[in-house]
Order: sequence, then C-alpha cells, then structure tokens
Amino acid sequence: MTINIAIDGPVGAGKSSIADQVAQRLNILHLDTGAMYRTLALHVLRSGVDPSDEAAVSACCERARVDVRYESGEQRTLLAGEDVTGLIRTGEVSAAASLVSRYPAVRRRMVRAQQELAAQADMLIDGRDIGTRVLPDAPVKIYLTAAPEERARRRHLQQLAKGDETPYEQVLRELNERDRQDMTRKTDPLRQAEDAVLVDSTQMTEQQVVESIVSIVEGVYGKR
Ligand code: DC
Repeated sequence: MTINIAIDGPVGAGKSSIADQVAQRLNILHLDTGAMYRTLALHVLRSGVDPSDEAAVSACCERARVDVRYESGEQRTLLAGEDVTGLIRTGEVSAAASLVSRYPAVRRRMVRAQQELAAQADMLIDGRDIGTRVLPDAPVKIYLTAAPEERARRRHLQQLAKGDETPYEQVLRELNERDRQDMTRKTDPLRQAEDAVLVDSTQMTEQQVVESIVSIVEGVYGKR
C-alpha cells in the first residue's frame, strides 16, 4: 500500500521544514504543493498577465507545464522543463501565488497532478487542501497551525537572517492577509479536515512537532 500523509495548515506554521524532517525520518518523499502554485504564479508574472484577472490567468495556466522531480530525495520544481526551484520564493511570487491559487481552473489541474504524484510513491504531501480535496482518503491527516503572532514572529526572524528587514508589524499584516485569502476563497479554502489531527505548534519546538507527527504516523502505519 502506498503511504500517503496529508499535512495542511496556514502560512508560517513551519509546514515545509517540518514536513521535510518527518519525510526524512520515515524515508519517504515530501511533495511541497505550494511550490507548484508558486511555479504557475511565476509563469503568470513572466507572461505579463495580471494575477487578479481570472480569465487571463486560467488561459495562461492551461498551457503551462509544471513538473516535479526528485534529486537525492529533494524536490525540484520545473516550469516547461526549466528548474525554477530557486526563483519561486520571492515576495512577488508569494503574493501572485495566493491570487492565482484561488481560481478553479488552476486548482483543477494542480489537484490532478498532485493526485497522480501521490499514487506513484510513498509521500508526505503538504499544502492547504490535501486532506480535504487532493487526498480525502489519506490514512493520516495533520492540520498544523500556530497563533498568527507566533507565525509572524518566526517568519520575521527568518527574513532578518536573510537580510530582509521588513518590520514585524508588516510581516504580521501580510500573513493575516494571506490567511484571509487562503481561508475565504470559494474553491477548496484552507480548513481542517474533519478527520485531521490538530497540531498547534505555538508552544512547541520544531523537534517536538516532528516527534509528535512521526508518532501519529507510526500509530497508523506501524513503526518504520
Ligand atoms: O505553502 P506556500 O506558501 O508555498 O503556498 C503558496 C500559495 O499557494 C499559498 O498562497 C497557498 C497556495 N496553495 C494552495 O492554495 N493549495 C495548496 N495545496 C498549496 C498552496
């Protein structure tokens, strides 16, 4: 049986880093689905299309080819064959990804691609709609969150370490705005699946979160 673990949660909950570590511990792949929406957003920006124009974005994305490949267990995300992994973490791409991921035509294609990837290998998949839409039957579903102020604090520290001096108040404001967009969009908004286990990391270290998720997985799939 293919192992499928769904992890959903809002921006800044530490999903990516935690999902990487859990996947490594379990010796399975980690699919970061946000990277796929970011890649489409990059394509939209490069094409000179306004990310808030649904019809234009939908048409533009219909022809875009997004692929995922693994190199030494690490995800590389490709746009029409070009490895864009290093180009999709900018603020501009983040903001555009939040907009283009609202559109049903965009989501339909990405959901199908993610389901195909999940069927091919043992995977931990992180995103916003994995437990609710992409893999509604996943045997393990985690909803990972933390208080907005704590998520903004962590994001702010990460950005400072990279030399980005955006003030904390602005980081918090932008995070609240992305939460609002992700949670209120009409198609597959971010929400906790009814059968997902809630992990609130506000008062937890990263290591504690990893341990708690590994033990939830082992409770279902057995010790690995
Ligand atoms: O996780 P992230 O910040 O890299 O995701 C980028 C954007 O894509 C974010 O605004 C939410 C959206 N997204 C989504 O709608 N569904 C997913 N499964 C993953 C990400």
